[in-house]
Amino acid sequence: MTIRFGVIGTGAIGREHMRRITQKLLGGEIAAVTDIDLSAARKAVEELGIEARIYPEEELLADRSIDAVIITSWGPAHEASVLAAIAAGKYVFVEKPLATTIEGCERIVQAEEKIGRRMVQVGYMRRYDRGYQALKSVVACGELGSPLMVRCTHRNAAVDERYTTEMAVLDTLVHELDVTRWLVGDDYAEVQAVFPRRTKYAHEALQDPQIFLLRTQTGIVITAEVFVNCRYGYDIQCEIVCEEGTVSLPAEASVEFKHDALHKRAVPQDWKLRFADAYDAELQDFINQVERCNEPQGPSAWDGYLATLAAEACVRAQKSQGWESVTPGISQPKFIAGRV
Ligand code: NAI
Repeated sequence: MTIRFGVIGTGAIGREHMRRITQKLLGGEIAAVTDIDLSAARKAVEELGIEARIYPEEELLADRSIDAVIITSWGPAHEASVLAAIAAGKYVFVEKPLATTIEGCERIVQAEEKIGRRMVQVGYMRRYDRGYQALKSVVACGELGSPLMVRCTHRNAAVDERYTTEMAVLDTLVHELDVTRWLVGDDYAEVQAVFPRRTKYAHEALQDPQIFLLRTQTGIVITAEVFVNCRYGYDIQCEIVCEEGTVSLPAEASVEFKHDALHKRAVPQDWKLRFADAYDAELQDFINQVERCNEPQGPSAWDGYLATLAAEACVRAQKSQGWESVTPGISQPKFIAGRV
């Protein structure tokens, strides 16, 4: 059976996901497309050369031939689309964030809870990256003992003037917030932000770099550096320090140079390339589960909620420069219990 997708939001990543499903992945087709700007939707369909229907979101969600939706609109629009899609009985793949407010995430978790099964997967694709999966299996097998500390680094070569201090959390750190919690299988209790000396390459209103300390409920301490004007490239690192050893993300496969008495290795420049396989794998898994009428297995609405909750605490910590607690206002739905 081919899963018929409706896409809501045909911007950069929406078009990427449409291309993936049409040209790379198995078992899905883009059957309907919408955008707040319908001419953008039309352009995306024409560029890809597919025969998808283009109509407003309401009609797309009412179309019974659509099995699942991909929500790739702007973050503030996610909540309304996710809730409407759940109400229409569609499976949902929503790009991060699940919703931009804690209350919005809670409403989505509760809507799914009413149905009593998972319908939603959130696009925290790092859980599908082979390096992170290898880290997770080493930690889970217990050979290194319990994790004590995690050191994460998230560096981008440069950002433009539209990038704000808060975006270092909401757009950048949020990936570490999701994947680290998943890696160590523990929830956050409190967070703190520390601001080092600013790089001369940061625009006037931007604090860059930033360091975040996160303490989990069992006491694991995570240090996460966000440095978005590091100049040299896109650099993602993660090391987990356990009682009997350490484990780190593998170095990226990239060409090595030996030239002029130097030995050099190329640094990736682009997050899209670094995580291309993970984006493919997350959507293929979503298609496979929907095809079998299973619940989606990737990051859940509950995971999306906890990522937004931790991000909101980090934003508070940016302002207070003190420890801020991460306290869920609702309980974990029973059908998600035990799955971090
Ligand atoms: P974009 O600005 O390129 O595209 C957003 C599109 O949504 C635009 O075409 C806009 O017209 C449309 N839109 C806005 N409000 C809408 C509404 N109410 N209904 C229908 N369409 C609407 O943004 P981009 O970069 O494609 O990001 C989209 C989402 O994907 C964001 O939430 C972003 O955080 C997330 N994202 C996730 C990434 C990841 O690594 N997982 C990477 C890049 C983006």
